[in-house]
Amino acid sequence: MKDRSNFTGKVGFVLAAAGSAVGLGNLWRFPYLAAQYGGGTFLICYIILSVTFGFTLMTAEIALGRKTRLSAIGAFKSLDKRFGFLGVLAAIVPIIILPYYSVIGGWVIKYFSTSLTGHTADAAKDTYFNTFVGGLTEPIFWFLLFVILTAVVVIFGVEKGIENVSKFLMPVLVVLTLGICVYVLTQKGAMDGLKYYLLPHMSDFSIKTLLAAMGQLFYSMSLAMGIMITYGSYMKKETNLGTSVKQIEFFDTGFAFFAGLMIVPSVFIFSEGNLEQLKAGPSLMFVTLPKVFNSMPIGDIIGAVFFLLVFFAALTSSISLMETIVSILMDKFKWGRKMTCIIVFVYVILMGIPSSLGFGVWDFIKPLGMSILDAWDFLSNSVLMPIVALITCIFVGFFIKPKTIIDEACAEGAKFKSKGLFTVMIKWIAPIFLVAILLSSVMNAFGIITL
Ligand code: TRP
Repeated sequence: MKDRSNFTGKVGFVLAAAGSAVGLGNLWRFPYLAAQYGGGTFLICYIILSVTFGFTLMTAEIALGRKTRLSAIGAFKSLDKRFGFLGVLAAIVPIIILPYYSVIGGWVIKYFSTSLTGHTADAAKDTYFNTFVGGLTEPIFWFLLFVILTAVVVIFGVEKGIENVSKFLMPVLVVLTLGICVYVLTQKGAMDGLKYYLLPHMSDFSIKTLLAAMGQLFYSMSLAMGIMITYGSYMKKETNLGTSVKQIEFFDTGFAFFAGLMIVPSVFIFSEGNLEQLKAGPSLMFVTLPKVFNSMPIGDIIGAVFFLLVFFAALTSSISLMETIVSILMDKFKWGRKMTCIIVFVYVILMGIPSSLGFGVWDFIKPLGMSILDAWDFLSNSVLMPIVALITCIFVGFFIKPKTIIDEACAEGAKFKSKGLFTVMIKWIAPIFLVAILLSSVMNAFGIITL
């Protein structure tokens, strides 16, 4: 086992954790869910869940890691032998996510190349995306490229280099996103979009909205999959846990908010009254943004820069996902690093290809009525992660007791103001809510109830 180094300085931890948290979840997934589930209605659900539920779970996970100095599988086991399985369950989540994450990563490179070669005008046409993903070899080619790039970094252990590059690029991405927001909001018709995105309408609200917001919270903040436990295991005792959690959440949610602000109103501006596009799902970012770039003076260049930055955000996430899987397998089976990387690489390719084909020649295969990619996404975000989160709450609330976490958060005399909120959330509100959400989502997927 290698020594556990600590993150340097106060912001070191927050930056590293936020770096892992920010990725396609913020830019690609959040905006299409917000568009689909009623704009403001989704936004308000998400924010409320984030400051209650997200705060509780992230605090618990980071504290578990820092207390035990172990990653998920070891952390649960060391506190209570009977809960070792929970770490294993959590470890399955990144294993499910990585293949389809790489499919989307491939789409990002494709759109980068489209902009770079000056074809933004083509990409702005409504049929462009479907023709692209409907093809046989093209989406697979870009997907393979993305997986190879990820694997090369992990195999040669040059994560540090990429992280340093992306640490510098991420602020640029934030600034560019803000700039595009300003551009979009000054276009004709933006006000309707802005209203849709910001104002909640009770009529749009349903259990499905909550379910989607909850799944997105887990995904975007890398919760309920052991990641934050690992990050916590590297966190210094002097770093204030409660404050760090709030900063990570603020940054992650803020970025998602602006991504939505850039994409959702664009549907109103550029799709000539065809609001059906709000329901576009996973394709939304790719259908909408080229239209925005196409309407700009130097849109090809802005588009290329933008997609390149998104690619880096996606790459750092996929590297960290692959790294997680590799280290779990290495610990478990005592395989060598190179061989483990190759096994994971082959696995990702085999699992990713069907997700890609599900939008093309295999579009007749609809597990639970969804495309193959959506089905994996559903399985991880709406089934497995709520289960992991639920058992984590029970574990903390009734076995090791909330006090263990609170004491960890108060280490070295740190202040943790939200003790009451944390205890009530983790023991009662979160578990009850999770059971309700889980049952309704699974029953809905199997057609027992209709949400
Ligand atoms: N949170 C990341 C995003 O928003 C995605 C993600 C999920 C992730 N699990 C992860 C990233 C594990 C790194 C490690 O895109």
